[in-house]
Amino acid sequence: MRHIYIVGIGTGNPEHLTVQAINTLNKVDVIFIPSKGAAKAELADVRKDICQRYVTNMAIRFVDYAVPVRQTADRSYVQSVDDWHAQISSTYERLFQDHLTEEGSGAFLVWGDPSLYDSTIRIIERVRARDRVALDYSVMPGITSIQALTASHRIPLNLVGKPVQITTGRRLTESFPGIVETAVVMLDGELAFSKIDDPDAYIYWGAYLGTEDEITIAGRLADVSDCIVATRTEARAKHGWIMDIYLLRKGSDFDDQA
Ligand SMILES: C[S@@+](CC[C@H](N)C(=O)[O-])C[C@H]1O[C@@H](n2cnc3c(N)ncnc32)[C@H](O)[C@@H]1O
Repeated sequence: MRHIYIVGIGTGNPEHLTVQAINTLNKVDVIFIPSKGAAKAELADVRKDICQRYVTNMAIRFVDYAVPVRQTADRSYVQSVDDWHAQISSTYERLFQDHLTEEGSGAFLVWGDPSLYDSTIRIIERVRARDRVALDYSVMPGITSIQALTASHRIPLNLVGKPVQITTGRRLTESFPGIVETAVVMLDGELAFSKIDDPDAYIYWGAYLGTEDEITIAGRLADVSDCIVATRTEARAKHGWIMDIYLLRKGSDFDDQA
């Protein structure tokens, strides 16, 4: 049966790759490389750089494929994502039929870790459910952008014995401030932090983490919010794209213990 490896590659620094990931990349028949258009060419370049550094098995084939663009017109967010995943499943199915033998193996290089705001696992499950191409799969963990953020700021993710919420910009105000003391915000195109008015909130922000363009800013939210907005706008214009993440915090270790 075909075997697909979903390999976490970390967030832009080739040294994030685990030994397990490197060994896996060197044993497959094909490595599939996505392209998402010129604006995100740098992300495809990180994958190519990783392969150049670590793939020493000359027999491995590289297959580029175009990632379908998500359509948003005339449909809800959920419908839009569902349609998009269906399209990607068809793309994967064709890739496996065209480039893998029935006993062949392939790898996808997934940004960060495959379990965090990534749908490769879901899409492979869809391909299996369609049952036109028999396959099994394995997942190799990678360093997430959350770990890259906390490492760059040299902070623990959680306060002692307290929970953390991982959320999106769209849903941030449902929980912070008020419900959780630590919120990690990803996929925030709307600068949700800039709408929070809380004198006790701190922010630890990072963009292009792990890459040579990494930028970090930290401080009391009220003091650094404008600076982050301006830095983000400038960086986005310069690169043509941005990936940023931040941790918001209120409270401190042991502040709820007598
Ligand atoms: C589709 S999610 C993928 C997350 C990824 N699977 C992970 O483990 O981090 C993309 C979001 O992750 C965050 N992100 C990923 N890489 C990043 C980086 N190098 N610097 C800052 N944020 C990053 C951003 O919030 C971005 O909007």
